[in-house]
Amino acid sequence: MKNDILKRLKNNIDNYVSGEDLRKSLNVTRAAIWKHVKALKAEGYVIEASTKKGYRLMGLNDVLNEAELSELLETQVIGQKIVYLDSVKSTNDYAKALAEDGAESGTTVVAGKQIAGRGRLGREWSGHGEKDVQFSVILKPDMRPAEIQIITLAAAVATAEAIDAALENRGVNIAKSGAGIKWPNDILLNDKKVCGILTEMNCETDRINYLVVGIGINLNREAGDFAEDLKETATSLKIFLDEKVPGNNYFQRREVVKEIMRRFDENYQKILSCQIPAIIENWKRHSVTIGRNVMAIAGNDIFSGIAEDISNEGKLIVKDDDGNIRTVSSGEVSIRNTKNIGERK
Ligand code: BTN
Repeated sequence: MKNDILKRLKNNIDNYVSGEDLRKSLNVTRAAIWKHVKALKAEGYVIEASTKKGYRLMGLNDVLNEAELSELLETQVIGQKIVYLDSVKSTNDYAKALAEDGAESGTTVVAGKQIAGRGRLGREWSGHGEKDVQFSVILKPDMRPAEIQIITLAAAVATAEAIDAALENRGVNIAKSGAGIKWPNDILLNDKKVCGILTEMNCETDRINYLVVGIGINLNREAGDFAEDLKETATSLKIFLDEKVPGNNYFQRREVVKEIMRRFDENYQKILSCQIPAIIENWKRHSVTIGRNVMAIAGNDIFSGIAEDISNEGKLIVKDDDGNIRTVSSGEVSIRNTKNIGERK
């Protein structure tokens, strides 16, 4: 019932729908309509009520819930089931618990805010309430544990492309200054980190039980929303856009999440149908790592060299300072000559 009312209001966005029309077409009392309208308002929809004219839904809203996130989402796996939470410690932890309970592949946990988000290498991921986007996708691919890096790269490509699309729609020349990917999966805008991806796996020696791919994006934050120690190295889509196209910039959270789910799903289908080189090609198009002078830190092994390529398994291929070709499969890579880091290869 509530969703029927919402649908009618959405079909007449910014215009009144009379209470009497709603009552008749849905065959309920006026009191029942009012009860559902109140529930919608509590969810964040801005609805004006007038005794004479009825109800009207005001403009674009940014409500996040399962129905809004699923609406017109044409994916095959990712987001086929969506779990929305207003607040959670970590969407990755929540998704892992769901996966342990047998949640289907593609189940996606989206949170309005995260209070104990986790980053790679045991770091913390600090969110800024509802100005950010945070979600985690459960996947159960029939792959070997050693092959999963490609899934993280596919998520990074999907996210970079979705960020580019959102910016291009607002007039940014993304060929000149679009989203870059720093190996393996940090997304940068203007040399600064705008998104991080944390992939966690539960597996046996030769079999993946499930993966959780968690994506966190700084979306509508202002400069003052970042902790002091992050101001130099992190940014948000809004800060970036404000510099390029000043105005009343705002990114609708659910549109960004849906666009990433859509593109990630496409990439996931490519992986399942063995089109991995296509993902690698797209990753390289966004890369800000290849061709750069890097410092690789993989456990106790620390060395510097030139990042030459990535392998089909998603490993970074580095020619070290002694001329040896080495592959880096995990850990951290920092780019040493940061001058051109914002430019894509
Ligand atoms: C990193 O760059 O270190 C990875 C950050 C990953 C953050 C996301 S936010 C959604 C998901 N839930 C978490 O606790 N972490 C990931």
